[in-house]
Amino acid sequence: MDSAKLSLGGQEYELPVVLGTEGERGVDISRFRGESGAVTLDPGYGNTGSCQSGICFINGEEGILRYRGYPIEQLAEQASFAEVSYLLIYGELPSVAQLQEFSDGLTYHSMIHEDMKKFFEGYPASAHPMAVLSSMISSLATYYPESEGNGDDDLNIIRILAKSKTMAAWSYKKSIGQPLVYPQNRLSYCADFLNMMFSVPTEEYEVPKVVEEALNVLFILHADHEQNCSTSTVRMVASSQANIFASLSAGVGALWGPLHGGANQKVLEMLEMIRQDGSDYKKYVDMAKDKDNDFRMMGFGHRVYKNFDPRATILRKACDEVLEQLGIDDPLLNIAKQLEDVALNDEYFVERKLYPNVDFYSGVLYRAMGIPTDMFTVMFALGRLPGWIAHFKELRGDPTSRINRPRQIYTGATARDYTPVAER
Ligand code: CMC
Repeated sequence: MDSAKLSLGGQEYELPVVLGTEGERGVDISRFRGESGAVTLDPGYGNTGSCQSGICFINGEEGILRYRGYPIEQLAEQASFAEVSYLLIYGELPSVAQLQEFSDGLTYHSMIHEDMKKFFEGYPASAHPMAVLSSMISSLATYYPESEGNGDDDLNIIRILAKSKTMAAWSYKKSIGQPLVYPQNRLSYCADFLNMMFSVPTEEYEVPKVVEEALNVLFILHADHEQNCSTSTVRMVASSQANIFASLSAGVGALWGPLHGGANQKVLEMLEMIRQDGSDYKKYVDMAKDKDNDFRMMGFGHRVYKNFDPRATILRKACDEVLEQLGIDDPLLNIAKQLEDVALNDEYFVERKLYPNVDFYSGVLYRAMGIPTDMFTVMFALGRLPGWIAHFKELRGDPTSRINRPRQIYTGATARDYTPVAER
């Protein structure tokens, strides 16, 4: 086996090198502190592998993304979200019978306990739906207390996937003061969600096929992305042996931030701001480059991708197709394309390898589908659930996993004596 050498204080330490199936190398420093007394420091974990995982592969330099070995382009083009969820969670593509059983489960468990409806009455109409989703997923633990411990049995997995879409749609209905719409067993996962969002008792509503298909692609693109902030959060919480509901609820919280899943909402707000400001997009490119200005070009840049985000490439094409089929001419899409062109040719963005990421086009697509802006991150969360569940299962099934507990380099005051308040 390959090894690395690290010299510290005149002493040399030999560190084992771990090799991934795609040739990725990792220097194993897990015993380094025990041997040397020193820790390694990596704020933001940009150079830290927190685990070995067989779920998702990304090559950020070449813009490659695969789930369990399958290229994202093939899955987005040909698979259903239920199929991809099964693949991520159980490791292999389902047979016809397995997919049928899994899809039936997603259908039959989509109602939520009637008592939970009262929770929606308690939230203010202005409640952000991410806050509602996080609390509701956490609350499921109170209805399924047998899940204390792991809780990642097949039934709970199905419950979480099936009920989250109902809870998400209901948080929207509540925010606009419309009656809650119950799930329908005759509809697919995506169509059922859209029906609960948009149907009203006063008229017939049929989910447009093009919107259902676009949502299927979006959910597949969101489904996993290895050790991103929210997935690492899920694994962190799961490592303390908290149950699956608590772990996923924490993941929703982490996803909410504007540097992570919350970016899709911020992209749309940015595009709208530029439109209202006379569409002078170059001004905003300059603002993003100005180090004295806090403004960032939302939807650009990625910790891992130093090339096109393959998800953004798929979405740019999907945006064109869906908007055309729906007959929508959205000025925000035009601003988005102009921003992309400027940024891709501007030295600042080229030098720093800042390409559009998944959130750049997903917002425009969600808007065309009629999804309100503050639901965008909820859409991301619904799509990411199978990935989080897969990581939860992987971690809890790994007998070598330990509680996640990083170290630090202390930079505070050194020891000093307490003085009573009257003497200060
Ligand atoms: N606009 C302007 N400058 C940027 C941007 C941006 N969007 N992103 C990075 N930079 C600059 C940054 O100022 C820094 O410049 P310098 O080297 O001169 O100091 C350099 O590029 C490296 O950036 P960083 O902040 O060190 O990179 P990071 O890996 O810590 O952050 C990021 C990654 C995604 C948080 C960041 O690019 C960003 O804030 N982007 C906007 C928010 C966004 O779109 N987030 C969605 C991410 S994709 C979906 C998901 O997985 O959640």
